[in-house]
Amino acid sequence: MNSNNIYIETYGCQMNQADTEIVLGILKHHGYKVTNEIGKADVILLNTCSVRDNAEQRIYGRLGNISTLKKSNPNLIVGVLGCMAEHLRNDLVEDKKIVDLVVGPDEYRRLPEYINIAFNGDKGIGIKLSRTETYDDIIPYREDGLQAWISVMRGCDKFCTFCVVPFTRGRERSRSLTSIVDEVKQLSDRGFREITLLGQNVNSYNDNGNDFADLLSAVSNVDNLMRIRFSTSHPQDLSDKLIYTIADHPGLCNYIHLPVQSGSDRILDLMNRTYTITHYLGIIEKAKKIIPGVSFSTDIISGFPTETYEDHLMTLDVMSQVKYDGAYMFKYSPRQGTKAFKMLDDVPEEVKSKRLQEIIDLQQKISYDINQEMIGKEEIILVEGYSKKSDLFLYGRTDTNKVVIIPLGPDIRIGDYVKVKIDRATSATLFGRSIDSVNREEKNMALSA
Ligand code: SAH
Ligand code: SF4
Ligand code: F3S
Repeated sequence: MNSNNIYIETYGCQMNQADTEIVLGILKHHGYKVTNEIGKADVILLNTCSVRDNAEQRIYGRLGNISTLKKSNPNLIVGVLGCMAEHLRNDLVEDKKIVDLVVGPDEYRRLPEYINIAFNGDKGIGIKLSRTETYDDIIPYREDGLQAWISVMRGCDKFCTFCVVPFTRGRERSRSLTSIVDEVKQLSDRGFREITLLGQNVNSYNDNGNDFADLLSAVSNVDNLMRIRFSTSHPQDLSDKLIYTIADHPGLCNYIHLPVQSGSDRILDLMNRTYTITHYLGIIEKAKKIIPGVSFSTDIISGFPTETYEDHLMTLDVMSQVKYDGAYMFKYSPRQGTKAFKMLDDVPEEVKSKRLQEIIDLQQKISYDINQEMIGKEEIILVEGYSKKSDLFLYGRTDTNKVVIIPLGPDIRIGDYVKVKIDRATSATLFGRSIDSVNREEKNMALSA
């Protein structure tokens, strides 16, 4: 085969990033080569996201650019993977004829087959969702590095009324614990230092009675030089067992992403989030008590249908009470096919924007205050690379996911754990200096202290 250079761009969440590695694993196994230069590609794939309208518009724009490449190279195959596959099918394959290939998240095993169909001049279309596919046995293609992301479950059964994910990714299913632990062992052997376990709602992980806390313990026992993170936890299902597991295992980071979405019980009910703010704050309080130094981040949507100014103030109030380390903040975007799509999108665009800006401003202030309190403290960071602004500095992250910049030092290498003292802080970044490199035993002692 000559026409075997694959170029892929990934949009959306970390799960899509992890899927891209699975796709490349499958394609490499079938003799394809990966290129980072779009001009050299025989097959261009976009792994897409449809969570908000602006995510989709970006992809349409990109496909517009790519269609000009196709004019100069008619043999070029253009394919859409991921969450837009389902409803893009008619629009792009039949109406606009830009793409040759549309393959959804559960059909990647058959991607080589669909590519062949496209090379033979037909449209390669595979958009069926599966109740069982977890790509358990596929070895994802990963460049060497420090950090890796592993999907431990796929799909979502929560059906929050604003969200397309249950429709684009289908029903919830978990990958086997043993296959995940094996993959972590392989990554440990290759020198990876940080693993993030991924799922839309990792707390409903279930492999023959092993729950997510069991999985976390098993994974954290693989290599005590590895940090383990996870995302995302749904507030309804975050168990006491999970909180105690995080507290008991030094390798499990003291950092929980716990999307609240809104501070108003009435809006949470309309969103079908299935918890109240009292329940939510109860979890936060419990976790703060049981896991010393734990930090939280969240997702917030502004301008959901019927949201009043009072509802909005309740969101600001929850933010002030929890004091999140970070937040992903969005304007509500109606998505076809969801329950909320049938509700009137009645908060005017400028009101959504104004409320979002207030949410962003408050979060920035909270992050600034939290970071100022870090000044003078000692932390252990995993050194991840050179600072983007200057190669005289390195950056790393604390257990609680905060970025710290430190000057280069003769004994500090990327991948080391280093004890640092924080000297200065902005709302986004801490600045410090190393006071010690940390060996394995010290790291565990320090982390469990
Ligand atoms: N499974 C994760 C989140 C997946 S989507 C969870 O439940 O937390 C990531 C975030 O995108 C969501 O938490 C939500 O804040 C946001 N989001 C999802 N659909 C949206 C929509 N229609 N409009 C605006 N934001 C949305
Ligand atoms: Fe979407 Fe809700 Fe599932 Fe998260 S839990 S993916 S927001 S339906
Ligand atoms: Fe987007 Fe799909 Fe992830 S819609 S956020 S890529 S699950």
